[in-house]
Order: sequence, then C-alpha cells, then structure tokens
Amino acid sequence: MLTAYDYSMAKLVDQAGVDVILVGDSASNVMAGNETTLPITLDQMIYHGSSVVRAVKRSLVVVDLPFGTYQGNSKEALVSAIRIMKETHADAVKMEGGEEILESVNRILSAGIPVMGHLGLMPQSIHKYGTYSVRAKQDEEAKKLISDAKLLEEAGCFAIVLEKIPSKLGEKVAKELRIPVIGIGAGSGVDGQVLVIHDMLGITQEFSPRFLRRYHNLAAEIRGAVENYINDVRILDFPNEKEQY
Ligand code: KIV
Repeated sequence: MLTAYDYSMAKLVDQAGVDVILVGDSASNVMAGNETTLPITLDQMIYHGSSVVRAVKRSLVVVDLPFGTYQGNSKEALVSAIRIMKETHADAVKMEGGEEILESVNRILSAGIPVMGHLGLMPQSIHKYGTYSVRAKQDEEAKKLISDAKLLEEAGCFAIVLEKIPSKLGEKVAKELRIPVIGIGAGSGVDGQVLVIHDMLGITQEFSPRFLRRYHNLAAEIRGAVENYINDVRILDFPNEKEQY
C-alpha cells in the first residue's frame, strides 16, 4: 500500500502495480504543509479522494476519515463515511482508534461500507501523546492494542494499519488476526507495508524516521530540473527554433 492524493501521482502508483492506494490524511502534512493531520477537512479529503479514484484502474482505494468527522458521534461518522463513498467513489474508509470508536465503526460497517482500522501511533491523537515516538512499548498499551485489533476484526474491519510500534508486537498482532495487518514502522512480521509516497520518493526531506526507506531523491531531481529551466530561459536557450510555432 502507498499513499496518493492527486490524479497524476495516483495514475503512476496504480500503473506500477500497488495493491492498495491510501488517500491518507497525511495530505494535511505533505500537500498542505500543516504540522499535523488535524486541520484537513472532509471536503478536502473528498477532493483528494475523487482525484485519485479518477486515475485508478486496478488498485483498491481507501480514503481516511479526517479528524473530527467520526469520533464521539456515530451518526455523524456514518454521514461522513457516506459522503466519502458517494462523492469519491472509493472502495473503503480508514479510521484511527479501537474501542473508543467502535460504535462508529459498527454503524459504518452496517451501512455496507468497508472499514480499514488504524492502531498504534494515531497521528490524529498527537495532542494526547505529545510526541510522534514509538507507541505500545509498555505492557498496558500493548495489551490494549491487541484487544482493540481483535475488536476491530470481530466488528468486521477488512484490514488494520499498525503504525510505529515494536516489531515483535506487530508480528504478534498479525499472527493473532485473520485479516491483513499492514505496517508502517511495525516491522517485517506483518502482512503488508505502507509508506507515504512523498517520503519514499524523497520529495519530503525533513522527515527521516528509522522505518522510512527512500527509493529516490526526487527533491534533488526536481530542484535540478527547475534550475536548468530557469537557466535556459535566462540565456535565451528556451524555447529554441523547434519549440515554437
Ligand atoms: O495518512 C496516512 O498517510 C496514513 C498512513 C501513514 C498509514 O494513515
């Protein structure tokens, strides 16, 4: 699984053969430049989701329900999920949390909308944690994570993302669940992996957690191309004879 937030990128990611495209609320960080995922709105997620769906021919598309659209009110959660499905034509929604959001998860599932869970580090709860460091290192939090994962599976979630937890815990959860467990910083013992596309392509530079493997240094390539363009325009090399009418 990889994230995508716009038509052009989603087309490339889909063509490359990824199984799942996540229209993550990380769009708030990488597309809009916010410090957290909290400010992104449902309308903005729908804009990103519908752009991605228009590009995709084969991957499953999952759209994040943004902060404040499903916590604490299951009726509002259902309305938010229905808007995502109706207005983006995506295949499923993703929600952060376990027991606390179970009523919302159940209500959305009972409307026939597939739900992907998200446990471990949940960026929408950053103000509760105060830090983006590894979660569930202590027994109590690890036990709650396992119990939440089982609750989500029993409720009918079709997959769960585990973010930034010890690899042994990731492996244990994956072994105990029948549904796929997709990790980001959850080690190699889970069933699948997800990364933010801007991070793995090296477009973002300031974010360097241990779990991130950069497959490219696009930041340098893009800057280089733009510098060449500026230079060509300044020295009157662009456009040349063949590049004009
Ligand atoms: O929003 C997002 O990109 C995510 C992934 C990090 C799993 O939730």
